[in-house]
Amino acid sequence: MDSLPAAGATPLPGPGTPSAGKPPEVNALDNGPSAAESLQNETPGRKPVRRETAESLATKQREISVSEFFTKNRHLLGFDNPQKALLTAIKEAVDNSLDACEEAGILPVLKVDIDQLGEERFRIAVQDNGPGIVKSQIPKIFGKLLYGSKFHVLKQARGQQGIGISAAGMYGLLTTGKSIAVTSRTGPGKPAHYYEIQIDTRKNAPQIIADTVVEWEPPHGTRVEIELVGTYKRGRHSVDDYIRQTAIANPHGEIFYNFPGGAGTLHFPRASDTLPPEPRAIKPHPYGVELGVLIRMLKETSARRLDLTLKRDFSRVSDRVAEEICAAANLRPSSNPHQIAAQEAERLYKAINSVKVMSPPTNCLSPIGEEQILSGMKKEIPAAFFTAVSRSPAVYRGNPFLVEVGMAYGGDLPADDLVDLLRFANRVPLQYQQSGCAITKSVLSIDWRSYGLSQSKGALPTGPLMLFVHIASVWVPFTSESKEAIAAYPEITRELRLALQDCGRRLSSHIRARRREVEEEKKRSYIERYIPHIGIALREILGMSKTAEQELVVTLKDVLERSRSRE
Ligand SMILES: Nc1ncnc2c1ncn2[C@@H]1O[C@H](COP(=O)(O)OP(=O)(O)OP(=O)(O)O)[C@@H](O)[C@H]1O
Ligand SMILES: [Mg+2]
Repeated sequence: MDSLPAAGATPLPGPGTPSAGKPPEVNALDNGPSAAESLQNETPGRKPVRRETAESLATKQREISVSEFFTKNRHLLGFDNPQKALLTAIKEAVDNSLDACEEAGILPVLKVDIDQLGEERFRIAVQDNGPGIVKSQIPKIFGKLLYGSKFHVLKQARGQQGIGISAAGMYGLLTTGKSIAVTSRTGPGKPAHYYEIQIDTRKNAPQIIADTVVEWEPPHGTRVEIELVGTYKRGRHSVDDYIRQTAIANPHGEIFYNFPGGAGTLHFPRASDTLPPEPRAIKPHPYGVELGVLIRMLKETSARRLDLTLKRDFSRVSDRVAEEICAAANLRPSSNPHQIAAQEAERLYKAINSVKVMSPPTNCLSPIGEEQILSGMKKEIPAAFFTAVSRSPAVYRGNPFLVEVGMAYGGDLPADDLVDLLRFANRVPLQYQQSGCAITKSVLSIDWRSYGLSQSKGALPTGPLMLFVHIASVWVPFTSESKEAIAAYPEITRELRLALQDCGRRLSSHIRARRREVEEEKKRSYIERYIPHIGIALREILGMSKTAEQELVVTLKDVLERSRSRE
């Protein structure tokens, strides 16, 4: 603390001092040495007890492998507590299986088994009927972080980072010392390969523990088994919940699920035989490309002319747009892209953003669709009213995305609980970090009382409602590697709000109509109760016979009944 000036040594300018109201001058409060002087001089009068030299530090400085980093920071990957770890490991394998089946055009059939081996010890197995994995790729996929087929491709998929399944294997190894086991076959007549793999975290490289050909019945597919420390719980955030929600968002998939202590296999049959539309990979849209990326793309392009680079390496750049960009950047269309200087690249970057370029193509997305959302919800949720909205695609940072919302209301859903909010990204249910997610923030930003629900300030609405919210994108902006919550880009929250409001309006007309019905029914039952009395009164006043009175009562009841069936 000795280098700090004593309190009051330099008076601060107050209302009475001459400098009051003026912007402070640099160093106005400090007569001490300048930053440059300080950097050159040693701190006077201080005897360091321990002091590193640049050389001694140099002996300690070395590369950190990505797997060492994530071993220390496994919470970033979703392995921060045993309950979450069990869910994350299953989720990574299930995501991959569904992705692989869809990419191969196969209707997915998944088998998910959880075997409890000890109080906190489990063996999980996820098996699919997908295309299988080529033998030489198996060790790298399961024994190396950041290795995958989806990171460099701009199209909608559940996986995007190339880290999921190897991280799950790494967590298993870390907590039980056991290898990840993989069985895979790529087609009928081909051998089924069985591997046991461990990750060498220092090198981020696979170590093969076993590599054999085995007897395995399925004609094609992959089975992944991991032993890990975890906790199995039912209810919120549970694997059971995740599997059920996966079935809702993937009505084209069939899942067999064996959970610990279960009486047998839970079967989620498919609700649709149609595969989702196949998403096409797109090139980056010029608006979404940052300067650094643009510079790298110019260096790496195989095109020999600037206009050709723009047309070939980006989406939506036509001859005319390429010409306009070059003109706005004051660069010749024939310039060699490899020789564009940094300043010129900056001009190009500004020019790109000043020229009108069509929105990116949206066939890179594969929405669930209103019909499928409805069939998924109806299959699993005991509600009385269902509605769904699938919005047209929009763009954030050059990445196409779209929002879909489904609502299930009434029926056997609990009336006094907070609304059940199911969040999905690229068809994957999100179980954790609800409050940090753009979906939750958008739901909270809406006044649900205007749609006929009750809501306390800053809370989710209350009522027999289940909200299903899905974001599909070529790159979902997750807030962390564990892919649990979505970042609140303004373009995304805008679309979310519009979809929620659209469904909200439909819900409110349903609620109003339902209330009217209940009211009318009340009135009718009231009238019904009095019909016999009206009969008696009329008989007495008009001197009618008993038979005429009974006929009158039957007619009146009939009229009432007909008014009911007209509804
Ligand atoms: N069951 C499977 N069938 C076929 N291929 C698979 C299977 N599981 C994984 N793969 C391949 O292995 C790659 C790596 O999987 P991994 O889960 O590590 O990353 P990812 O799915 O690409 O991205 P993310 O980290 O976001 O999950 C995938 O990109 C895919 O090509
Ligand atoms: Mg994955």
